[in-house]
Amino acid sequence: MATDLQGPVSPRSSDPAVRVEGLTRSFDGLAVVDGLDLTLRAGEFTALLGRSGCGKSTLLRVLAGLDRDITGTVLVPRRRAVAFQSPRLMPWKRVWRNVLLGLPGKPERELAERALEEVGLGGRSGAWPRTLSGGEAQRASLARALVREPDLLLLDEPFGALDALTRIKAQQLVAELWQRRGCAVLLVTHDVDEALLLADRALVMRDGAIAYETPVDLDRPRTVGHGEFAALRSRLLTELGVAEEAAPVEAA
Ligand SMILES: Nc1ncnc2c1ncn2[C@@H]1O[C@H](COP(=O)(O)OP(=O)(O)O)[C@@H](O)[C@H]1O
Ligand SMILES: [Mg+2]
Repeated sequence: MATDLQGPVSPRSSDPAVRVEGLTRSFDGLAVVDGLDLTLRAGEFTALLGRSGCGKSTLLRVLAGLDRDITGTVLVPRRRAVAFQSPRLMPWKRVWRNVLLGLPGKPERELAERALEEVGLGGRSGAWPRTLSGGEAQRASLARALVREPDLLLLDEPFGALDALTRIKAQQLVAELWQRRGCAVLLVTHDVDEALLLADRALVMRDGAIAYETPVDLDRPRTVGHGEFAALRSRLLTELGVAEEAAPVEAA
């Protein structure tokens, strides 16, 4: 992997937070990511859409630095954090210790508590992971990402396992955190509405590369709706190879 960008990337600056050129990652001789180019601006919220198995998680793991078996150029900020669909909490460590897991030095519990406060889990710092609901565990996982003060936050279908209501709350939380923190966010999702509710820009991955991208110029806060929202949704669904349901035809 190429060296990281020098120094911290200041939020909302004009420097890119991520620059990827000609990235290729193969498994058993088959290129899952194939000559992919990608630029993410600092402070920008980008959604990455794509059909199951198209290589979204593979790309995210590369950006997170978890997979270095690649060719091509990958420039990412030093401070980055990732949250996955499953919260991946260590069951034998209390929530606050999970939040601090892997941080260098001997960080104070207070640091974890501030991050937990930010995700609305202030009271659960001393709890065991198994006592958390699915939504709470996912928020703890977000706190673990935030405590790293990332310039780039990578989210891999983080709401995929949540029920509909919890999912809406979690989406609102991520929108708030992003606005407060000003970090670049790359959200992998297969949910077009989620992408349009949250992102400044939506990308569609296909055949190992970014096949389509569109800005999402909708006022915030957003609601799923008609007009521009519906037009963008329709186009993205087409790019994903999903035809929108036509009016149902009555069976004879
Ligand atoms: N460690 C691995 N070993 C072999 N094949 C893998 C590995 N990781 C991912 N793949 C393959 O790469 C393809 C893309 O996977 P993935 O990035 O997880 O897709 P997505 O997240 O878009 O659903 C899939 O065909 C998957 O089987
Ligand atoms: Mg995936």
